[in-house]
Amino acid sequence: GFGQIFTDHILYMEFDRAKGGWGPAEIRPYGLLNLEPGSACLHYGQIVWDGLKCYRSEDGLRLFRPRENFKRLNYSARRMCMPEVDVEYMLAALKELLKVEARWVPKTLGTSLYIRPCMLASEPFLGLHKANRYILFIMLSPSGPYFKEGFKPVKILVEDKYVRAAIGGTGEAKTAGNYAASLKSTDEAMEKGFSQTLWLDACERKYIEEVGAMNMAFVINGEVVTPPLNGSILAGITRKSILEICKHLNIPAVERKISIGEVIKGIQNGNLTEAFGMGTAAIIAPVGSIYYKENNYTINNFEVGPIATQLYQELTGIQYGSKPDIFGWIEKVE
Ligand SMILES: Cc1ncc(COP(=O)(O)O)c(C=O)c1O
Repeated sequence: GFGQIFTDHILYMEFDRAKGGWGPAEIRPYGLLNLEPGSACLHYGQIVWDGLKCYRSEDGLRLFRPRENFKRLNYSARRMCMPEVDVEYMLAALKELLKVEARWVPKTLGTSLYIRPCMLASEPFLGLHKANRYILFIMLSPSGPYFKEGFKPVKILVEDKYVRAAIGGTGEAKTAGNYAASLKSTDEAMEKGFSQTLWLDACERKYIEEVGAMNMAFVINGEVVTPPLNGSILAGITRKSILEICKHLNIPAVERKISIGEVIKGIQNGNLTEAFGMGTAAIIAPVGSIYYKENNYTINNFEVGPIATQLYQELTGIQYGSKPDIFGWIEKVE
């Protein structure tokens, strides 16, 4: 399963405000971190992370838009009063780690090496203020194909009791607390046989936000519709790439608010023909049905639609090198 095995080494660096900032990055064997029980991250949640993948193609190892991930790590860090990193330095250091761990990048199509940068407050103190000392590490985990039985739709549950994030909160940052806040809903959804929770906005419980670890899109009257980046959802790199691919392929695409009422009406009158999640883990995850207030609504006869299929092929084609990198998204690890 995903995220169960970690490679032999991590990238490791420390920040100390008193010493003027970040120390050098070093490659260390995977092992225990040196954290005191009083470390601020354990009490006050100053933890941010990100996620990207290294793909093996015929011409070697490649990363997909890695600068975007380090920029987003910096965005998350700013929101959580944590120090930023130098994007180019981190990318160069990550490449060194990947060269050491190259044998861990799996070969078959659909597989990859998942990369998890994570920053946390290590300074020991009790008190509600930002820490002065931090640890940043990057760990790696080989990842099998997301769709083991092929590219198949998933069932999701629309959450109308719990909320994940509100405008003005931390929803747009990739910080651990957001995921902790989502566990209760995800747990209950999984117990009922759904694979994910679809979040609604915290204020009116009306507008689509995102799913567990993916942004959402719907195809309505032939147009790809995705909720705007309103501050409470994550600015997904897959979402951003899909919007650019749509533009290139002349598939109409728009960022606008979309209510759960509009989604259900569209399914019922046949105007909504596809729904899919977008994220690094699955790239595109077609949604076959949504469950909302005791009713189940099936989309496109629980079959994968043509637009989701085309977008999946385009994006994975670029990532694995079977299609040309026309957008300049690929960073080779040489
Ligand atoms: C909450 C959330 N939304 C959306 C995404 C998708 O973002 P990306 O496409 O950058 O992986 C993720 C995963 O990283 C996520 O955790």
